[in-house]
Amino acid sequence: MSKSITIGLVGAGFVANIHARSYRRLRDLGARIGAVTAVPVEQAEAFAQEYEIEVVCKDFEDLLHRPEIDIVDICVPNNLHAPFTIAAAEAGKHIICEKPLTGYFGGEGAADPVGDTPKGVMLAEVVRTAERMIAAAESNGVKLMYAENWLYSPPIQKALRLARASGGTILEIRAQECHSGSHAGYSKEWRYAGGGALIRVGPHPLGTAIYAKQQEGLLRDGKPIGVRSVLAETGDLSRVRSVEAEEKKWLVGGWKDVENWSTVILTFEDGTHAIIFASDTVLGGMEDTLEIFLSNARVACDMTHSTMMRAYAPDPSVFAEEYLAEKLETKAGWSYPAFDEEWLLGYPQELRDFVEAVKEDRPPMVDGRLGLDVIRVIYAAYQSAEEGRRVDL
Ligand SMILES: NC(=O)c1ccc[n+]([C@@H]2O[C@H](COP(=O)([O-])OP(=O)(O)OC[C@H]3O[C@@H](n4cnc5c(N)ncnc54)[C@H](O)[C@@H]3O)[C@@H](O)[C@H]2O)c1
Repeated sequence: MSKSITIGLVGAGFVANIHARSYRRLRDLGARIGAVTAVPVEQAEAFAQEYEIEVVCKDFEDLLHRPEIDIVDICVPNNLHAPFTIAAAEAGKHIICEKPLTGYFGGEGAADPVGDTPKGVMLAEVVRTAERMIAAAESNGVKLMYAENWLYSPPIQKALRLARASGGTILEIRAQECHSGSHAGYSKEWRYAGGGALIRVGPHPLGTAIYAKQQEGLLRDGKPIGVRSVLAETGDLSRVRSVEAEEKKWLVGGWKDVENWSTVILTFEDGTHAIIFASDTVLGGMEDTLEIFLSNARVACDMTHSTMMRAYAPDPSVFAEEYLAEKLETKAGWSYPAFDEEWLLGYPQELRDFVEAVKEDRPPMVDGRLGLDVIRVIYAAYQSAEEGRRVDL
């Protein structure tokens, strides 16, 4: 346990900042960011200054070949997850890969725009890519750790423990991540994002539901309960005629070839279900909820509108620069201030598990296989919505 762990951080954007703040909470493990890279490199320089990181690498290749790096932490856009993961594995580095594990971004046989490519083609391709990522890690003897932070969120951890303790059957899971839309330009095009709301915010509720049923099966029969079929609907609600005509836009618009609304029904191998909502069409701040309906109990988690604290202001200026909650449109009226959002959403706990897994040479709680299961369901859902039918896995 005395070995110190050096992280090479790839990316210096939104989630890289969350990871960097979270690593500060892991000093007791001897974990530190040893190097960072980003495009343009000036972004990495500013980031390195803020977080006191000694080395700024000119590019990913440069970072990869630094001998002191134990873990490469991939916090870059979705289309780079697979090539960077495979290169890191081949360089003998452990990998933390942000969600989604990978996606379909075009290439040979793709339509123009990429979002018009038949979704069955996409599904086959993403499964192959995800399997290549997992195989690259396995054959090089490194860990591929899949950064699904929801599974480390304290309320979700407790919900899973209660479900386990009950010994009941999970009959239905309802889970969602919804907000008013991503402002990142690349999130609007399939060739960069690999899809819309479903692939951007859907991995959290989907990964949690899939994991919960896997664990239930393992506990009861020594065998995970997998997903049997997927039924979905997706759409771009910013194109509704009356919405287009409205002058003041509260929701993000300008989606090119991706959906901003999705609902997916999963049917598991034992005939039970999960209903997942992932959308960019919900006002009121980030909405992250999970409900588990068991045969003998019921558990509900609300990660973002928890009533442990409520605040009121008659005018948005009252709370000045003090942060309230992610994606909240206004600081006026009643709100649910997030007092430690990153802890509540499981980021430091997730990175603690990953660093400890490397130090102790044990499997992490969440690995690339869950990432593959999630991405398979996402693209099966896209196929289901496109073809108007249930897709069997
Ligand atoms: N777990 C979560 O809750 C969560 C939240 C947000 C984002 N994410 C995931 O994190 C990833 C990044 O999202 P973000 O919101 O931080 O995006 P961002 O645009 O804020 O940051 C992306 C970063 O990638 C860097 N980058 C791009 N190309 C690069 C290259 N070739 N080499 C090195 N660096 C490069 C950019 O410089 C930038 O710093 C996405 O895959 C996203 O799905 C996860």
